[in-house]
Amino acid sequence: MRLLFYDTKSYDREAFDRAAGAFPDIEIDYLKTDLGPRTAPLAEGFDGVCAFVNSDIGKDTLQILSHRKVGLVLLRCAGFNNVDLKTAQELGIQVMRVPGYSPEAVAEHAMALALACNRRLYKAYNKVRENDFSLNGLMGFTFYQKTAGIIGTGKIGAAMVRICKGFGMKVLAYDPYPCESLRELAEYVSLDHLLAGSDLISLHCPLSDAARHMINRDAIRKMKDGVILVNTSRGALVKTQDLIEGILRHKFAGVGLDVYEEETPNVFEDRSDEILETSVTARLLSFPNVMITSHQGFFTREALAAIAQTTLENASAYARGEECAGRVQGLIPRLCQR
Ligand code: NAI
Repeated sequence: MRLLFYDTKSYDREAFDRAAGAFPDIEIDYLKTDLGPRTAPLAEGFDGVCAFVNSDIGKDTLQILSHRKVGLVLLRCAGFNNVDLKTAQELGIQVMRVPGYSPEAVAEHAMALALACNRRLYKAYNKVRENDFSLNGLMGFTFYQKTAGIIGTGKIGAAMVRICKGFGMKVLAYDPYPCESLRELAEYVSLDHLLAGSDLISLHCPLSDAARHMINRDAIRKMKDGVILVNTSRGALVKTQDLIEGILRHKFAGVGLDVYEEETPNVFEDRSDEILETSVTARLLSFPNVMITSHQGFFTREALAAIAQTTLENASAYARGEECAGRVQGLIPRLCQR
């Protein structure tokens, strides 16, 4: 089968070329451009396309793909909020993802952000490089015996629960589908209880209509003063304007974001003054207690290898007409299976 790979970075190509040796029936063509309505026609003659978190896989793109007889969208990521699943289903296009390639990679990055914000590591690093060894502005708080609130306890959230437990923290969790095996590590509570009782709040639930802007003015008001908020999940879980208001009211000891609302389209690709003046992300970057990374939670050697392997297994299962765990359609809210 022939796959057209969109938005290729050199590290993607290396990982996929390495994994492809075990899949002789799959031929991959790599494109630097991302998938969207303007680039979808390039998939003419291919059986499937391989896309990523910020690809535009809405109705228009899917209709163009279907018109060109492309039957498969392979997402080389876990989240699938950028796909119009209803249209894909209607057009008979199968959508596959990589449900859990390295949950620990993302959870470790979430904790790295929490620690960097808490101990002001970015500030400490710059101060010392400028020969300023004073401790002014570097005071943090000890995580040991504090409370972590984990929102969403799927694969990544569960890894974060274990990490927080390792720090000697008490862990509160909120998930509409609690994970039975986590109950001895975390206490499941209501969202309001978690917001009010946590010193560190970390978001690990998918972006859905219900979860969009779950961290808004009302939720922020319920949080403890001096809380640390970390989001490695999806930018739109947080209403950025309300977050900015909370930061200005000194609600947060620190905010660590690996994802942000303006990732799609990426405001920083268009650096015009006009865009940057109105960009809420640029505003966030102006605060000394906010740390933003560019959606790198997944970015470890192990995770890239696992993504390539599972994506090609998904393609192979599709070619053989077999069911596989990566299939997005048919996903139903489920109890945790770990
Ligand atoms: P998962 O599907 O294993 O777990 C998600 C959990 O969230 C489930 O237990 C589900 O019941 C729960 N959930 C759903 N709606 C909720 C809500 N409104 N409130 C609280 N919990 C809710 O997903 P996984 O693998 O743990 O990934 C979580 C998210 O992390 C992905 O959806 C994706 O957005 C993000 N992600 C970020 C990466 C990065 O590089 N920063 C890489 C991979 C995933």
